[in-house]
Amino acid sequence: MSNSPSSSEVDRISDAQGTKRLLIRQPDDWHVHLRDGAMLASTVDYTARQFARAIVMPNLAPPVTTVEQAVAYRERIAAALPSGRKFTPLMTAYLTDGIEPAEVERGFSEKVFTACKLYPAHATTNSAFGVTDVKKIHAVLETMERIGMPLLVHGEVTHRHIDIFDREAVFIEQVLSKVVADFPALKIVFEHITTADAVQFVEASSPNIGATITPHHLMINRNALFEGGIRPHLYCLPVAKREVHRLALRKAATSGNPRFFLGTDSAPHAVSDKESACGCAGIFNAPVALECYATVFDEEGALDKLEAFASENGPNFYGLPLNGGTVALERTAWRVEDQLAAADTAIVPFLAGSTVPWTFLGRETASVT
Ligand code: DOR
Ligand code: ZN
Repeated sequence: MSNSPSSSEVDRISDAQGTKRLLIRQPDDWHVHLRDGAMLASTVDYTARQFARAIVMPNLAPPVTTVEQAVAYRERIAAALPSGRKFTPLMTAYLTDGIEPAEVERGFSEKVFTACKLYPAHATTNSAFGVTDVKKIHAVLETMERIGMPLLVHGEVTHRHIDIFDREAVFIEQVLSKVVADFPALKIVFEHITTADAVQFVEASSPNIGATITPHHLMINRNALFEGGIRPHLYCLPVAKREVHRLALRKAATSGNPRFFLGTDSAPHAVSDKESACGCAGIFNAPVALECYATVFDEEGALDKLEAFASENGPNFYGLPLNGGTVALERTAWRVEDQLAAADTAIVPFLAGSTVPWTFLGRETASVT
């Protein structure tokens, strides 16, 4: 199947009686935080009900750095799913300065690790064990390049003197461009891109460089964090940028370029950890993920491009099969809950209390040919 939408896909956007419906191949989420324990149990199905597979971030405490830890975490995720739910978690290894190339290679060859995640140390939540200098993981990157294992990158420098809104652009200049030059065949996913600089970097790179784009970075700019007061539930890392960057992301996502694909970066935190003197970074968008993407693509007049972005570009980049089956969405407005019960606390989802124009109807049994 090609990356450009076929006429049959366009036909699957119907407008019967004024209600637009959309049927797309079952999508995947190429970047999500599922957490652990009670938080995992109460949030995992928001992702599993919409997506067939998800790339699961390894930034637990302690992080997932060994094959055994990833196998055990995968089992905990499977155990937390409602019975009968078909969902495949794709596990990642958390890169540290000391991680052994042989462990990474073994995890990949045993089909436990799908990819490795590079967190610059102290860049974000649970990244204290991250990489202090990319030079320290050169041997791992060499191995990954040789075996075709993707590197997933949190692309921000952490220097205190670099303005937080510039950290992605500076990362491209100081770190990512060097990694690309040193490991030209390494598959790299530039995760949750937030700037026009990142869009341009990916567009100008070779086809082994892709990028995920979140719903929130397509929908909000940095003003939203301060609208009428500080808005902790819209704080994430990388932080939302200026409007010009949001517009560049929307253009990239809806362009049909196969190197941009869906990754929600949905990251639940208890309400008390967000509404705090030092609130955690992370936006819990899983309850509204596909609805948000459909809204953005609709606003951009690009609904015919949603299926490639959500369901084809990611698997094609990773070299994984496309899913069978479909999901249906409808242009009917609904109100997002103010809070959702989770573990013994509550979480405030993205767009809490507001109206979203698209509704997720669920999975259809008919498969796509
Ligand atoms: O906002 C974020 N939250 N960005 C990350 O990189 C990590 C994530 C989390 O784990 O909460
Ligand atoms: Zn993330």
